[in-house]
Amino acid sequence: MAYSATGPRVRAVNEMFDYDAELSRYNVRLREAAAVRADDRVLDIGCGSGQTTRQAARSATAGSALGVDLSLPMVDRARRVAEEKGVSNVSFEVTDAQEHPFPPGDFTLGISRFGTMFFSDPVAAFTNIARALRPQARLVQLAWQAHDRQEWVSAIRQALAGPDKQITPAGLGHAAFSLADPAVVAGVLAAAGFTGVEITDLREPVYYGADAARALDALAELRMVDDLIVDLDDNEQARAMERLLVMLDAHDAGDGVWFDSRAWLVTAIRA
Ligand SMILES: C[S@@+](CC[C@H](N)C(=O)[O-])C[C@H]1O[C@@H](n2cnc3c(N)ncnc32)[C@H](O)[C@@H]1O
Repeated sequence: MAYSATGPRVRAVNEMFDYDAELSRYNVRLREAAAVRADDRVLDIGCGSGQTTRQAARSATAGSALGVDLSLPMVDRARRVAEEKGVSNVSFEVTDAQEHPFPPGDFTLGISRFGTMFFSDPVAAFTNIARALRPQARLVQLAWQAHDRQEWVSAIRQALAGPDKQITPAGLGHAAFSLADPAVVAGVLAAAGFTGVEITDLREPVYYGADAARALDALAELRMVDDLIVDLDDNEQARAMERLLVMLDAHDAGDGVWFDSRAWLVTAIRA
């Protein structure tokens, strides 16, 4: 397999990465844990294009679900799909969950599928979310474990670096891993007004595309490639991208390109 473009195959992030496909296995775990009841009023934090919000709304037959996200393109898509699918007890807002003035005590359940790791001030953000929840309401969220437990991180970095190079954790202080330390998560949630924090180890594969070429596009959308090859000259970049394609192809299990991953299922009660 050859990488034929003249430079790195990197597209602008279009905020349209298919998280529903990537996270399908985790979605099942979140739904089980959330166990949305008919009368729930659900707040979905960092809802992206709204799959989890729609699912919550469908279960909350006598209630409703609100999805909030910073991304206008994602929320536009969430609104469009909800309308197409005829889910009427769902709504979406483009807003920062860290500081949005939610009506106090309005929600009976908070959920998030990997949408709570990006806050600049986690205690302030979870305090704001706690305020939005009714006392005794549950918060159920998924967050990545540490980067060195993620095959999707190590395999990509190793392929780009080459087989003889030791990959370093440099640059992996990425926000996606900000809730990776259970002690930190428990401390943040306690400081924000939550109690009964439970953190469960989950291990599920994540999906990047139907084949290696599509997986490469997905990695570009997620900006998982460009900063790792930016310092290489054109020849080195081309070789790195070829190694990446070969590695992605080796992870094609016949039903697409999958990587192992680890996440925390974090549940807590609004005190
Ligand atoms: C990894 S994506 C997950 C999206 C969605 N939960 C899903 O599973 O498809 C993280 C999302 O969190 C959103 N996000 C990050 N910080 C946020 C904030 N402070 N308030 C609202 N949304 C935020 C991003 O815009 C992005 O859509």
